[in-house]
Amino acid sequence: MPSPLVLRGLELLLVLAAIAGAVDVWWQTGTFERRLSADAKRRRRLLSLSQMNPPSVDALREAWLDEQRHGLDQMLARRADGLPPAATPQTEGSAMDQSAGFCWTEPIQTTRLMARPFRDGDEAFLLDLLSRPEVVRWLYEPVQTAADIAASMAARRRRTQLRAPGDGLQLLLCDTPEGRPVGHVSLHWLEGPHLQGEVGFIVHPDFQGRGYATEGAELMLAIGFGAVGLHRIVGRLEARNAASARVLEHLGMRREAHLQENEWVKGEWQDEVVYALLDREWAGRREPAPPSRPSRPTGGGAG
Ligand SMILES: CC(C)(COP(=O)(O)OP(=O)(O)OC[C@H]1O[C@@H](n2cnc3c(N)ncnc32)[C@H](O)[C@@H]1OP(=O)(O)O)[C@@H](O)C(=O)NCCC(=O)NCCS
Repeated sequence: MPSPLVLRGLELLLVLAAIAGAVDVWWQTGTFERRLSADAKRRRRLLSLSQMNPPSVDALREAWLDEQRHGLDQMLARRADGLPPAATPQTEGSAMDQSAGFCWTEPIQTTRLMARPFRDGDEAFLLDLLSRPEVVRWLYEPVQTAADIAASMAARRRRTQLRAPGDGLQLLLCDTPEGRPVGHVSLHWLEGPHLQGEVGFIVHPDFQGRGYATEGAELMLAIGFGAVGLHRIVGRLEARNAASARVLEHLGMRREAHLQENEWVKGEWQDEVVYALLDREWAGRREPAPPSRPSRPTGGGAG
């Protein structure tokens, strides 16, 4: 028969174990709730960003940084729980699976421009733009006719969302407050699981040299990196397209490749140059340099 002292000791140990268990349950529940509420907060923020009109470039950048911090928290939490890193850390918890996707149907305001999806009535501007040989000189498309523009309108109007690889966003740029169409910008989410995108831009010769392509493309980068969660965005151009190269350099993109005569376009072998920017470089870099001049003379700026 154990002595009363030993029994008291055992009793005390049992009480201490019960208290420790209760504290553990309380702590785990608290941690879980804290994680849940942080998650809910993030989710609400991403959703409101995706619906924000206009989405601010700074807010998108801040959300991206938040995503990275959250990803790191998740990784550390998994490690603490003895779990391996998530299989797809770059998409887990990203904008892709936190919302119904990103779809813009309303105008977006940038510093000097308003960007909106295409709609009926934009054909006249597109014809004026794309029927000019100097504008399409370095594009794959030939000079466009009214019939070409009409045939492309349905596809242009559909390019309003970036929900999955293969999707494209194409927005008409208008100056403000005048509201005149000045060009368009696009972002294509490239096929495959690699979170890659491609930016594109065209500005009407009457409005070139004012930094509009840079400003519109900057919005595309903010949407691609900040809202959609792409990892790398490229800009591809014919090597002689000096104006396009300048725009991509203004955006802080890195010249990564010069492919010699890799494409047969418009009856000749053409060189292709590739510029690229990573999400972390976008988040860390300074704003692009403002345009150096108020305006440039009209005429072919594409190289
Ligand atoms: C490329 C394009 C969109 C640029 O539009 P934009 O609104 O004039 O661009 P920005 O004002 O933001 O910047 C243009 C830069 O190119 C420079 N540039 C313009 N024409 C140039 C030329 N012929 N040679 C060298 N640089 C030129 C400008 O000086 C400016 O650089 P800077 O600010 O350092 O001086 C426009 O020229 C265009 O629509 N070209 C035809 C379509 C096209 O080629 N699109 C790109 C396909 S890859």
